[in-house]
Amino acid sequence: MDIASRIATLKQRVDAALTHCLAARHGRPERLLEAMRYSVLGPGKRIRPVLCYLTGEALGLDIARLDAPACAVEMIHAYSLIHDDLPAMDDDDLRRGRATCHRAFDEATAILAGDALQVLAFEVLSNDEQLTTAAHLRLAMVRRLAAASGIDGMAGGQAMDLAAEERSLSIDELAAVHRRKTGALIQACVLMMADLAEAPEAQATALATYADRIGLAFQVRDDILDVDGDETAIGKRVGADARLQKATYPALLGIEGARREASRLLDEALAALSPLGSPAAGLEALARFIIERRH
Ligand code: IPE
Ligand code: IPE
Ligand code: MG
Ligand code: MG
Ligand code: MG
Repeated sequence: MDIASRIATLKQRVDAALTHCLAARHGRPERLLEAMRYSVLGPGKRIRPVLCYLTGEALGLDIARLDAPACAVEMIHAYSLIHDDLPAMDDDDLRRGRATCHRAFDEATAILAGDALQVLAFEVLSNDEQLTTAAHLRLAMVRRLAAASGIDGMAGGQAMDLAAEERSLSIDELAAVHRRKTGALIQACVLMMADLAEAPEAQATALATYADRIGLAFQVRDDILDVDGDETAIGKRVGADARLQKATYPALLGIEGARREASRLLDEALAALSPLGSPAAGLEALARFIIERRH
C-alpha cells in the first residue's frame, strides 16, 4: 500500500470538510476566524483524521459518516498546537513552516482561536447530520473526545510536560506524560470509531492497544525529530526541547535508545492489529509511517 498517497487523498477530504466548518458567516469576527483557519488549514500532516478514516475502513464504516469526528479531532489538535506554542508554554515562533499563530496574529487572538476551536470540535461532533447514528453512540464519542482532551488527557499531559522541565523523570513517568499529552487524542480517534461501529469487545481492545502504542510512538518520534530532524522538513525549530530542558526520550535513553523504543512500540502495535486481518492494512501502513516519518 502506498500510504503517502492514501494520506494525501484523505487529507484533501478532511480539508474540504474543515473549510466548510470554518466558512465566513455573518457576524463571525473576521480576525479570529482568520486565525482559526490559519492554524487548522495550514500544512500539517492530518494524521489524526487519517487515523479516524482508516480505522473506519477497518471496521467497515461508511466514510461519509466520518468527516465530523475527523474534523473534530483535528480542531482539538490545532487548538493544542496554538496553545503549546504560546510564550507561557513552549514559546515557539515556527509551526508548519510558518509563523506560529500568536506571532502571525497576537497572543489574545491565539488564545481565543484555541478556545473557539476546542468548542467548535464538540459542536461539529454533536450536530453533524452525516454522522447518522443513535444519540447514545454520538454521546459516547463526545465523551471519548472530551476525556482525551482534558485533565486526564492532553491538557493534563501538557501540565505534566511543563512541570517536568529541568527535572529528570523515570522512563515510566515520561511514558505517562507522553501518553497523556499526545497518545490520548490519537487513541480517541480509534476508539471513537469503535464506539460508532459498536465493535465487539475483542476488536475494541485490540484497537485500543494498537492506538496506545502508536500514540506513544508518535511522541517518541516527535522527540527524535527535535534532535535529528531537518527544520525545513518538520516546519519547526530543531533543538527546541533541549533549549527548554524538556523531558524527552532522546534525553533519557539517547537517540539510539529512543529509536529502539519506537521500533518496539511498532512491533506491539502491529501484533495487536493482526486479528483484524486485511481490512486493517491501512492501519498497519500508518503505524509504519508514524515510526519512520521524517516530518
Ligand atoms: C505535533 O503533531 C505535536 C505532537 C503532538 C507531537 P503533528 O506532528 O501531528 O503536527 P502536524 O499536525 O503535522 O503539524
Ligand atoms: C506537544 O508536544 C503535544 C501537544 C499536546 C501539542 P510538543 O511540544 O513536543 O509538540 P511540538 O514539538 O511543539 O509540535
Ligand atoms: Mg510542548
Ligand atoms: Mg511544543
Ligand atoms: Mg516536540
